[in-house]
Amino acid sequence: MTQTSTQTLQQTLSIVKPDAVGQNQIGNIIEYFEREGLSVVAAKMVHLSPDDAKKFYEIHADKPFFGELVEFMTSGPILAMVLEGSDAVATNRRIMGATDPTKAEAGTVRADFATSIERNAVHGSDSLENAKTEIGFFFKDKEIFPRA
Ligand code: CMP
Repeated sequence: MTQTSTQTLQQTLSIVKPDAVGQNQIGNIIEYFEREGLSVVAAKMVHLSPDDAKKFYEIHADKPFFGELVEFMTSGPILAMVLEGSDAVATNRRIMGATDPTKAEAGTVRADFATSIERNAVHGSDSLENAKTEIGFFFKDKEIFPRA
């Protein structure tokens, strides 16, 4: 990883969720990331089992929506990706927009592709620490191809 005075090259985990995969929007969504300078350095399509989804979202286990979240995330295949770029965690979250698409800024992925707070098209790591854990959930080191 290289560093400039103000920005750091990072990797973050991105998921294209079952709603967006089912609507054939994978390519359109990746374009939002690439045109803002993020690069796909790993990708795999996965159909999560209920146990996988519960483990991935374990920090939300006590939330009232947890059951629905697991059901939705196991309803079809997802595309898991590692995105790399300058301040990738924050950059990805800016490109995705707010979790609730009714609050997402115009031109963000969720404003353009999400249909509800649950069916919200994409997931992105919310911190560098969680990015490392989430990347490790889906990818081995040898499956990641850093550009830098
Ligand atoms: P994500 O970024 O994948 O992280 C956790 C997910 O839980 C979130 O996106 C939403 O899809 C979902 N979620 C968050 N809040 C709610 C809610 N109030 N009702 C249903 N799903 C939610």
